[in-house]
Amino acid sequence: MRVRNFCAGPAAIPEEVLKEVKAELLDWNNSGMSIMEMSHRSSIFKEIAHSAKQDFIDLLFIPDDYDVLFLQGGATHQFSMVPMNFSSKEDSADYLLTGAWSKKAISEASRLSNINVVASSEEENYNHIPNFDDWNIDSKAQYFHYVPNETIHGVAIHSPPLIDSKVIADMSSVILSEPIDVSKFDLIYAGAQKNIGPAGLTVVIIKKSMFELENTNIPNIFRYSKHSENDSMLNTPPTFSWYIAGKVFKWLKREGGLEKMKQKNHLKAQTLYNFIDNSDYFSNPVRKTDRSIMNIPFTLFNKDLDSLFINEAQKRGLLNIQGHRSLGGMRASIYNAMPIEGVHDLIDFMKDFENKNG
Ligand SMILES: Cc1ncc(COP(=O)(O)O)c(C=O)c1O
Repeated sequence: MRVRNFCAGPAAIPEEVLKEVKAELLDWNNSGMSIMEMSHRSSIFKEIAHSAKQDFIDLLFIPDDYDVLFLQGGATHQFSMVPMNFSSKEDSADYLLTGAWSKKAISEASRLSNINVVASSEEENYNHIPNFDDWNIDSKAQYFHYVPNETIHGVAIHSPPLIDSKVIADMSSVILSEPIDVSKFDLIYAGAQKNIGPAGLTVVIIKKSMFELENTNIPNIFRYSKHSENDSMLNTPPTFSWYIAGKVFKWLKREGGLEKMKQKNHLKAQTLYNFIDNSDYFSNPVRKTDRSIMNIPFTLFNKDLDSLFINEAQKRGLLNIQGHRSLGGMRASIYNAMPIEGVHDLIDFMKDFENKNG
C-alpha cells in the first residue's frame, strides 16, 4: 500500500513515474540493460539527458541566454560553489537571512567571502520575511543571495526582489511548483529531492554571462563554465536520478505544466491553512503574506500530544508529519506529487485527533 508521504525531502515521487521506472528497470527499451548500467557517454543516455534538459527548459520557459546544468553535491555544495566562483575575501556578497537554509548558506559563504546580511528575521524565529524597505543592500556586493522558500520554517518570498544586483536563489523546495520569471535571476539552484526527482542531482540554471565573472583560479570541478562546456558531463553525472527527473518533467507536461501546478498547489496549501487558521487546536506561526505553499509547519496547542499525534497519523498512513528536528512541532510538505486528496486525508485525521484528544 502506498502511504501519504509528507516528507520534506527526499519526498514523494509521482506514482506514474515510479511505475514507468519499474517497468523499464531491467531492460530499457530493448537495450538489454538498465539505465543504471549504461555509460553516460552512450547515445542512449545522451538522448535521455538531452530530452530531460529540453523538457525542463520548456516547463520554465528558460531564455536562450541561460544554460541548465545537472550536477552532483546537493544544494549544500552550491552554498560553497556560488561564493567560490563569484566572490572572495577581497569582495563581499549580500545575503538575506530568512531561515535555517539561508543561515547555512551564509555560514559556508563566510569562509570564502565577506558577507553582508541585508536583513534577518532570526530574532522572531523566522516567522516572516523582513520588510523590503528595511533591507540594507550594498551596491558594491558581488551578488545577492536568498532562499525563496525556507523548507524548515515554511516561510516564502513570492516574487523575485527588484534589486540592482546579480540575483542568486536557492529554489530547492519551490522549483517547478509554479511558473517563475527566470530572466529576473542570474543563477538558480535546486536539490532534486523535492519536486524534481530522487536525491543525488542538483539542477542549476545560470545566465551565460555569469561565466565571465567566475574566479578562474579554482579547480574545474567547481566551475560552472566547465560543467556547461561539457554538457554537465565533466565527470560521471548521476545518471539514474537524471533519467527519473526526465520522467518527472514529462509527467509535469502531461499534467498541464506549471500554471496548472500552481493552481493545484495553491488550492492544497489554502485548504490546509484555512483549516489550521479556523482551529483553536492547531496553529501556524508564519505571517499570512509570507507563507510557503510547499511546506506547512504547524503546532498542536498541547505539545505533550506531539508524539501521540505522529504515531496516530502513521497508523492512518500519513507519514513524516513531524517538524524538522531543529524546530519540533509538525510540518506537512505538500510538493507537486501530493494530490489534494492527501491534504483532505490529513485534515480528516486532524479533526478526528482533536475530537478524541481535545
Ligand atoms: C532550501 C534548501 N536548501 C538546501 C537544502 C540542502 O540540500 P542538500 O541536502 O541537497 O544539500 C535543503 C534541503 O532540504 C533545502 O530545503
